[in-house]
Amino acid sequence: MSITLPGPTLGVVGGGQLGRMIGESVARLGVEVVVLDPTPDCPASPVVSDQIVADFDDADAVHELASRVDALTFEIELADPDVLAEASAEHDVPVQPDPDTLRTIQDKLVQKEALSDAGIPVPEFVAVATAEGLERVVEEFGGVMLKAREGGYDGRGNVPVESPAEAEDALEEVGGNAMAEELLDFEREIAVMGLKGADGETRTYPVTETVHREEILRESVVPARSDDPVIAEAESVATDVLSFLDGRGVYGIELFETREGEVLVNEIAPRPHNSGHWTIEGARTSQFENHVRAVLGWPLGPTDLVAPAVTANVLGDVDETQPATLRGVDDVLAAPDAALHWYGKDDVRPLRKMGHLTVTGESPEADPDAVLSEARTLRDGLTFTDS
Ligand SMILES: Nc1ncnc2c1ncn2[C@@H]1O[C@H](COP(=O)(O)OP(=O)(O)OP(=O)(O)O)[C@@H](O)[C@H]1O
Ligand SMILES: [Mg+2]
Repeated sequence: MSITLPGPTLGVVGGGQLGRMIGESVARLGVEVVVLDPTPDCPASPVVSDQIVADFDDADAVHELASRVDALTFEIELADPDVLAEASAEHDVPVQPDPDTLRTIQDKLVQKEALSDAGIPVPEFVAVATAEGLERVVEEFGGVMLKAREGGYDGRGNVPVESPAEAEDALEEVGGNAMAEELLDFEREIAVMGLKGADGETRTYPVTETVHREEILRESVVPARSDDPVIAEAESVATDVLSFLDGRGVYGIELFETREGEVLVNEIAPRPHNSGHWTIEGARTSQFENHVRAVLGWPLGPTDLVAPAVTANVLGDVDETQPATLRGVDDVLAAPDAALHWYGKDDVRPLRKMGHLTVTGESPEADPDAVLSEARTLRDGLTFTDS
């Protein structure tokens, strides 16, 4: 291949913060981005060439997108795999990752079955459709995490069920068709951002430790503070996951480290992922740039760590939806080792992801604990409230 600049135009289904960071990362490579998103002036719109305002699964709109670009990808699992495949074929524009991979991942039950069939370690899980069925599973597992099969994010669609008496309400809350997973008392959560490029090349970023509260990601810490054998196992599981997936791009592989030092796969995202935002400042090539390189079939960039890094999410600290004004920004801007990212969302809602900051250690020997504590202090100084 001989790559020439200006680069091609990339069509992205979804224009949220991931689309925005894709746009920011590849403008410098001369890659133009057009996004499709239902929210007028979506987060990506100020940093990309154009936005088509339409639902993610609007077939006419996806065809229009395909007619205007050289390659297609998606930054949200609500993209429709059939529509993407048809638009790709009709307009002779490649779509990556493979829509079949998206189809498998969209349904948490189908995804877990596929992983388990491939011999990849996962928590015990079972399909549930009735309250009686769920009661039996709760008794057998001694507690489960009930998960809606489709459409969940940031823990929405997940309900912990610890006694059979809670089964009926929990099933109603997730909307009926669900998957029940053993409720794990894990040591910590970790994640690996994996890459699949041209000619089957795969690469992984250093293992990230992910800190969740109320099932929402709060901080990502790199390198993860796990023991070496666990890190090696996480890398090996991630590499197995990558060989099981079809299509080029970046994949967020969420893992549990159990008390016994086992590594189990929680779920996979076929796109850049919140647990990889630290790569913008903390790795030689960001997950966003590498996603685009992979989708285009370009050479991948190095995934090495520059220095220990921590990303702290800036979530809506409000009780109800209101216009978004972030206060306390001065201290973050004044900190020499912090980078602030604003997602451009007009309204703040309780626990909505509004932005993040990444603190990068001064040298490769920096202590991740110290970096984490600085990132938390800076993040905790930010607020959307005026009191
Ligand atoms: N089986 C389990 N046992 C204990 N905790 C769990 C289990 N499954 C999920 N969790 C907790 O809930 C969080 C969110 O779960 P999951 O990744 O399934 O949901 P999600 O809504 O798709 O998340 P996200 O969009 O943040 O990736 C996990 O990161 C973990 O903290
Ligand atoms: Mg998750």
